[in-house]
Amino acid sequence: MSCPPDDYERELKQLAKEIRVLTKKLDRSEKDRIRLEATNRTKESLLKRVIFELQESQGILETKSADLEQAVMNLTTMQTELVKAEKMAALGGLVAGVAHEINTPVGVSITLASTLMDETQRLLSALASGPLRRSLLEHYLQIAEESSRLILSNLNRAGELVQSFKQVAVDQTISEKRRFAVKSYLEEIAISLSPHLKHAAHTLTITGDDSASLDNYPGALAQVATNLVTNSLTHAYPTQTGGHLQFDVSQRPGQVVVQYWDDGCGMPESILDKIFDPFFTTARDQGGSGLGLHIAYNLVTQKLQGQIDVRSEVGQGTQFTLVIPCSVDP
Ligand SMILES: Nc1ncnc2c1ncn2[C@@H]1O[C@H](COP(=O)(O)OP(=O)(O)OP(=O)(O)O)[C@@H](O)[C@H]1O
Ligand SMILES: [Mg+2]
Repeated sequence: MSCPPDDYERELKQLAKEIRVLTKKLDRSEKDRIRLEATNRTKESLLKRVIFELQESQGILETKSADLEQAVMNLTTMQTELVKAEKMAALGGLVAGVAHEINTPVGVSITLASTLMDETQRLLSALASGPLRRSLLEHYLQIAEESSRLILSNLNRAGELVQSFKQVAVDQTISEKRRFAVKSYLEEIAISLSPHLKHAAHTLTITGDDSASLDNYPGALAQVATNLVTNSLTHAYPTQTGGHLQFDVSQRPGQVVVQYWDDGCGMPESILDKIFDPFFTTARDQGGSGLGLHIAYNLVTQKLQGQIDVRSEVGQGTQFTLVIPCSVDP
C-alpha cells in the first residue's frame, strides 16, 4: 500500500530534520572529543613533567641523604675524638695541679739541702784550718739534724703526692676495676685540684662515711668529680668570691651515694634540662665545649652503672647526686 504524497513529503522533511539534528550532535561530540584529546595531551605532558621532576628530586634527595649520613658519621667520629681530647685535658689539669703541689715540698727540700751543704763546707774548712771548736760542731750538728728531718718530711710529702697522683692518673688512663675507699679517694682528687681552688679562695670539704667502699672503676669517679668541681670553678662564681664546695659520702644497702654541692649562682630551670646534652654550654666564648657533663653522665650511667641527678636554684647553688652500685660486673 502506498502513502499519499503529502504524508510522504512530511515524513521526508521530518527525516531530514532529524538527520540535521543528528549531524549537529555528531559535530558537537567530535568537537568535544577533539577538545578532550587536547586536554588529555596537556594533562599527560604535565604529568610527565611532574614525574620527571619527582624523579629528579628523588635523585637529589638520595644524594642529600647520603651526604647527611656521611655528615652524621663525621660528627660521631668528631664527638668521640672530642670526648677523648676532653679526658686527656682533664688529666692534663690534674698533672698541672699535682706538679704545682709537689713544687712546694721539693722547693723547701732544695733550700734545706743547700743550707746543709753550706754548713758542711764551713765545717770542713774549719777542720782544715786547725782544731775544731766544740760550739761549731754543736751548731753544725743542730742544723744537720733539723734540716735532714725537714728534708725527710718534705720528701715524704712529695712522695705521697706522686703516689696518690700516680693512682688517679693510672685509674684515668687504664680503666681498671678495683676496690677503693670512696672518701679517701675523693681526698686524693681534692689534693690534685687544690691549686685551682686556692687560686680563687674556694674551699672544698669532703665529709661522710670513711668506710664506704666501691668495687668499681675509680678512674671514672675521678673524672666525674674533677668535672663537677671544674664546672663550679668555671661557672658558679662569676664574681670569683670564695665559694664552699663539698662532697659527702654515704652508704645504702648495695649502693654508695656521693653528693656534691656548690653555693654558687645556680642554674635556671631552662638550662637544667640540657646540661647533660653533648655540646650544650653557656660558655662557648670562654672555650667551653659543652662535653664535661655529657662525659660525666656517660661515665656514671655506663661505666659506674649508676645514676646522676641535678638540682639547682638560681642564687642558691647546685647539687649533684651520684648513686653508684657497690660492685659491678666487668
Ligand atoms: N656548678 C655549676 N653552676 C652553674 N652552672 C653550671 C654548673 N655546672 C654546669 N653548669 C652549666 O652547665 C653547662 C654545661 O656544662 P658542661 O660541663 O657540660 O660544659 P662546659 O663546662 O660549658 O664546657 P666543658 O666542660 O666542655 O669545658 C655549662 O656551660 C654551665 O652553663
Ligand atoms: Mg664543664
